[in-house]
Amino acid sequence: MEGQIVIITGANSGIGKAAALKFATEGYRVIMACRNMDISRVVQQEIIQKSNNTNVDLLQLDVSSFESIRSFCAAFKEKYPRLDILIHNAAYLNHGEKQYKLSPDHIELTFATNTFGPLLMTNLLVDHLQKSQDPRVLHACTTNIKHFFDPKRKIDFDNLRGELRDSRPFSVYKMYGDSKMALLMLTFKMAEELRSQGIQVNALQINRVKLSEETIQKMSPLWRVLAKLQNLSNPLPSGMADTYFHICTSDAFKNVTGQLINHKREIVQSSTSEKGIVQLRNLFGSASYPSYATDVDNVEQIWRICTALMKSYLS
Ligand SMILES: NC(=O)c1ccc[n+]([C@@H]2O[C@H](COP(=O)([O-])OP(=O)(O)OC[C@H]3O[C@@H](n4cnc5c(N)ncnc54)[C@H](OP(=O)(O)O)[C@@H]3O)[C@@H](O)[C@H]2O)c1
Repeated sequence: MEGQIVIITGANSGIGKAAALKFATEGYRVIMACRNMDISRVVQQEIIQKSNNTNVDLLQLDVSSFESIRSFCAAFKEKYPRLDILIHNAAYLNHGEKQYKLSPDHIELTFATNTFGPLLMTNLLVDHLQKSQDPRVLHACTTNIKHFFDPKRKIDFDNLRGELRDSRPFSVYKMYGDSKMALLMLTFKMAEELRSQGIQVNALQINRVKLSEETIQKMSPLWRVLAKLQNLSNPLPSGMADTYFHICTSDAFKNVTGQLINHKREIVQSSTSEKGIVQLRNLFGSASYPSYATDVDNVEQIWRICTALMKSYLS
């Protein structure tokens, strides 16, 4: 794996940190794309020591900011000859948050971080991905999208930039679910767009993983207690990090693109029905995702919003 280059966003904590350690241990050159450099430098040293691999670099990235993404991509391209694997792991979910927050570019912060940022970043790195023999992009998705099995659940397309922040109450889980459903729809669309260039784009449906102490410390006291209770039974991030590694490197996924993959490493299918016994299987299993995600109008709508934003930024 000498010389294979992987970028992992949010690599200073949780699954991202475990994934950085896994790739470094396997001999990859790892670029940790992180926001907080003081914390991340300590993690970088820990990964170098544990993996015995000095090819673990750290570049600053705030994935909610156009300007930061632009600087990151420029710095990356200057330093590295190509990109083999791009893992969009970083995400914003502030448990208990009641207020709208906007990104530096006046986009709702959850949507900016979890959906739009990854799209813009991939776009700016396409030329470097094209230089790889087997380029793969992975999006960290979530079982939270199961809420879209409810036929009434829809993405608030009219509020992704926080347009209705003065009139519509903020729901942190609704925003998070909308942003990850939008990311899944972009996975399908980007896989189509990038297929001819040989770039694979998939998403992983993450179910539950132990939260890091740093993430728990950012929560309000009540949420901290709940998170610690959940952590008692949740599996360690290293298992999910192994799954990131498997999807991004194994022959089993070599020709797989435009798919949602579950924690058992199976390809998840669009649900055939959202009624009766099938719906029960949808809700309690991990074999299907809501058909909302492949509805042509929904996919085109999110694509239109994102490409318009990208055009406004790139012009
Ligand atoms: N843990 C679970 O049970 C679970 C379940 C479903 C899905 N997921 C998904 O799995 C992924 C990893 O989750 P996790 O539990 O490992 O989370 P985590 O430990 O809280 O890590 C999140 C990472 O994202 C980074 N981040 C947040 N906003 C950022 C920004 N604007 N720019 C750059 N980095 C940013 C954080 O950096 P800072 O330290 O600077 O904040 C942190 O490194 C996420 O996409 C999450 O949605 C997790």
